[in-house]
Amino acid sequence: MAKDIPLLETVPTHVGVIMDGNGRWAKKRGLPRKFGHREGVKTFRAVTRRAKQLGIKYITFYAFSTENWKRPDDEVQALMELFEKNLDEVSDFIDEEIRVRFIGDRSRLSPTLRSKMENTERSSEQFDQTTMMLAINYGGRDEIANAVKEIGRLVKSGELDPESISEETVAQHLYLPDVPPVDYVIRPSGELRLSNFMIWQAAYAEYYFTNILWPDFTVEDFDRAIADFSHRGRRFGGV
Ligand code: FPP
Repeated sequence: MAKDIPLLETVPTHVGVIMDGNGRWAKKRGLPRKFGHREGVKTFRAVTRRAKQLGIKYITFYAFSTENWKRPDDEVQALMELFEKNLDEVSDFIDEEIRVRFIGDRSRLSPTLRSKMENTERSSEQFDQTTMMLAINYGGRDEIANAVKEIGRLVKSGELDPESISEETVAQHLYLPDVPPVDYVIRPSGELRLSNFMIWQAAYAEYYFTNILWPDFTVEDFDRAIADFSHRGRRFGGV
């Protein structure tokens, strides 16, 4: 049943979510870690829909980091299969008019996954109310290093004067330069770290931490997190 929409003074423009605690959720039940990721997908889908209902324009989920390749092969494989399967089932997001985009280095992903990502982006690009971004093989430092590489090429070819390089120049060479900065980062499962997630874009973000493991995180928990943001005053270094 649809839940009531809470009355909120302000909602964040761009929410970043670090989906953490899947492994511990599975371990507590004596299950392999991949079961935790599978359960985590349910939370991801429910929270994405809720974000649209709350009027949040952008929401980015950290699904796979550049460091996650170090996990056991079967876990990496299970995650890649989950991404593929869910892109096959993304039509319900499309029915709900949610735009889907991706950030991260696609070069290491399988051609099948890459083509599904492109199809999903294309079939949802006309929607402009809520955009959901999935970070796959994403690292904040990697993203900045790639931006620097591109800027270096422009300098080398004489198209850019190094003296004119500003913060804006760097921002324009990140994965999605048209998406506004992250203003709220939600991290469940009790870890108090950013873990290389959108380190440039989250420079002025507010944070929300909770001990709840991601698979147990409910729409009500998400509502609570967003309500907490709406009570905070933000000064961006001013007074
Ligand atoms: C971190 O929890 C979670 C991940 C590395 C993967 C998150 C991915 C999903 C929830 C699947 C997303 C799929 C789609 C289609 C969006 P952890 O494994 O580090 O948990 P732990 O800290 O308890 O070990």
